[in-house]
Amino acid sequence: MTLKEYFSAQQSVIDAALDRFTPAESGHPATIHRAMRHSLFAGGKRIRPILCISAAAAVSDHAPAAIYAACSLEMIHTYSLIHDDLPALDNDDYRRGKATCHKVFGEAMAILAGDALFTLAIQTLTRIEDADPARVVALIRELSFASGTVDGMIGGQVTDIESERLPPTAELLDSIHRAKTGALLRASVRMGGIAAGGDAAQIEALSRYGEHIGLAFQIVDDILDVEESSQALGKTAGKDAAQGKITFPAVYGLEASREMAQEQCRLSHEALAPFGNGAQRLHEIADLIVQRKS
Ligand code: IPE
Ligand code: IPE
Ligand code: MG
Ligand code: MG
Ligand code: MG
Repeated sequence: MTLKEYFSAQQSVIDAALDRFTPAESGHPATIHRAMRHSLFAGGKRIRPILCISAAAAVSDHAPAAIYAACSLEMIHTYSLIHDDLPALDNDDYRRGKATCHKVFGEAMAILAGDALFTLAIQTLTRIEDADPARVVALIRELSFASGTVDGMIGGQVTDIESERLPPTAELLDSIHRAKTGALLRASVRMGGIAAGGDAAQIEALSRYGEHIGLAFQIVDDILDVEESSQALGKTAGKDAAQGKITFPAVYGLEASREMAQEQCRLSHEALAPFGNGAQRLHEIADLIVQRKS
């Protein structure tokens, strides 16, 4: 199966599971469920859940808990995007090729839809069937720390917002990117490994891989914001410079940023060595993260 076919097969499985775990639009109170589903099914790439499932597959060929972990990651990610787009944060009207959640449902409902996706993510992890309770706790720990304020997504978003229009320094850039994006990508592969019952050495190798692709992912996100059109990205292009964000192109320029993304990709491949051929998909996904155009 080509990587493209693999992605579209995984996306279908993930979308079906997300649909199962998310309350129906008609369920009371309907507005919030419509708002959650608007953003959840707007057409995301599903990179985090696919990383989770692929990491689980590198560890074991039987990992039924991985789909729950995968969906919980996509719920947290979607919540982070809904809040990232709010007028008080990046103030974006366009996301995943559609109007942003607050544009369609209003700010109050968008804030609540983000909150609701967070709680739904935790609920989803508690639904894993026949699960070892210690494993569920480990998954909740990973997800909540990666989303949190200390070196996690929310902490990174705080620094991102507070650093707007400050002089772009390498230190600030590194701390923002590792936290706002890197932490959840790293957690994606760690949670896949944990869901599959990986040992400490396997989780450690996945962590290193996750750190490198996490950084590469946000470097490329920053480059695409400069180089691609809003239509290609499904979100407003050119916003980072307009808002004085601290980005890789702002600190290093485009060419050096591209090289740094390549270097992170190479390091991520190295980290996979302990898995041999079992990590072929993770190897390919790292390449895709650097080569993607959206
Ligand atoms: C966008 O993430 C936000 C960042 C953390 C850079 P993605 O590029 O994975 O967005 P979707 O999920 O495909 O919409
Ligand atoms: C957002 O980073 C990271 C999140 C935690 C959502 P960006 O602000 O660069 O993401 P985009 O470019 O709007 O998708
Ligand atoms: Mg932002
Ligand atoms: Mg943004
Ligand atoms: Mg961006």
